[in-house]
Amino acid sequence: MKILSGIQPSGQLHIGNYFGMMQTMIAHMESSELFVFIVDLHAMTSVHDRNRLAAGTLEAAADFLALGLDPEQCTFWVQSDVPEVCELTWILSTLAPMGLIERCHSYKDKIANGIEPSHGLFSYPVLMAADILLYQADQVPVGQDQKQHLEVARDLAQKFNHTFGETFVVPEPAINKAVATVPGLDGRKMSKSYDNTIPLFLEGKALKKRIMAIETDATPVEAPKNPDACNLFALLKLFASPERLQEVRDLYVNGGAAYGYIKLELLDLVSNHFAEARKKKTDYLADPASLREILRKGAEKARAKAVLTMDMVRERVGLKY
Ligand code: ADP
Ligand code: TRP
Repeated sequence: MKILSGIQPSGQLHIGNYFGMMQTMIAHMESSELFVFIVDLHAMTSVHDRNRLAAGTLEAAADFLALGLDPEQCTFWVQSDVPEVCELTWILSTLAPMGLIERCHSYKDKIANGIEPSHGLFSYPVLMAADILLYQADQVPVGQDQKQHLEVARDLAQKFNHTFGETFVVPEPAINKAVATVPGLDGRKMSKSYDNTIPLFLEGKALKKRIMAIETDATPVEAPKNPDACNLFALLKLFASPERLQEVRDLYVNGGAAYGYIKLELLDLVSNHFAEARKKKTDYLADPASLREILRKGAEKARAKAVLTMDMVRERVGLKY
């Protein structure tokens, strides 16, 4: 089974990324053929600052490695280091119906959030389809927000196969229902674009400031509250033990849940959960040459696979004459 997923280096990775995608990918390392990559070409739809993009790419790589991804046990690379993906994007875009891409809501959401409506942003799902099909992935672990993009990838694989003969695996999304959408500080989806995140490796005062800013209602401590409608409880759920969660749930239901104390408890849990990874990340970033070498080797492995697919694709469509 080939499992593949990518992440944009467009800002600090956060706990939504971790629970929605990174944790699942790392857990698959031993049992599957795993492909993990940093999608810097996708990030260019919102980042036009060379330092930010380059530093963000190295940092996202350090994040993954610090969290336990072993580059020897998977293929781990940076998207733009395998240029074949751009060629496949073009070929797929000649098959992509306008209506299919126009229906993608992430384009509209991003414009509504102030990202410039470029052609690249519009055709983003086609590049993502090329990412997936190029490596013949069977399964793609993502958060709920990416489900529609997976449908585009499936449609394009089927259309290509139908037009030119069986070539691509039709990929399946793998969405972990329990953490499909991690809420942000304001209760909307946690996202780099909404400035409502808890970054993975924040610590000390900066982390405290974010956690204390989680929005809660104005119900008094002693009043009963609904835990399942509370943003803070949803975040606590990700970190607390089942026993402790039950205790806090009872406090919500029977009265006595003090948001301030629960936030401090969450602060401790988050801080401890990532303590070891935080240290490892610092070590990785202190040695960028080794980090680049890991990514270079990863790109070599990825490219060997990509070239095989592209050979077949060129043959099928008539680009070999
Ligand atoms: P962002 O919205 O912060 O820019 P990305 O689009 O880079 O995040 O998402 C990277 C991966 O993390 C995707 O698989 C996405 O589905 C997942 N993800 C992002 N935010 C969340 C969230 N709040 N809850 C669950 N998964 C998420
Ligand atoms: N679009 C994805 C996101 O914003 C990132 C991504 C790019 C991706 N290519 C991919 C995810 C291929 C899975 C597979 O999160």
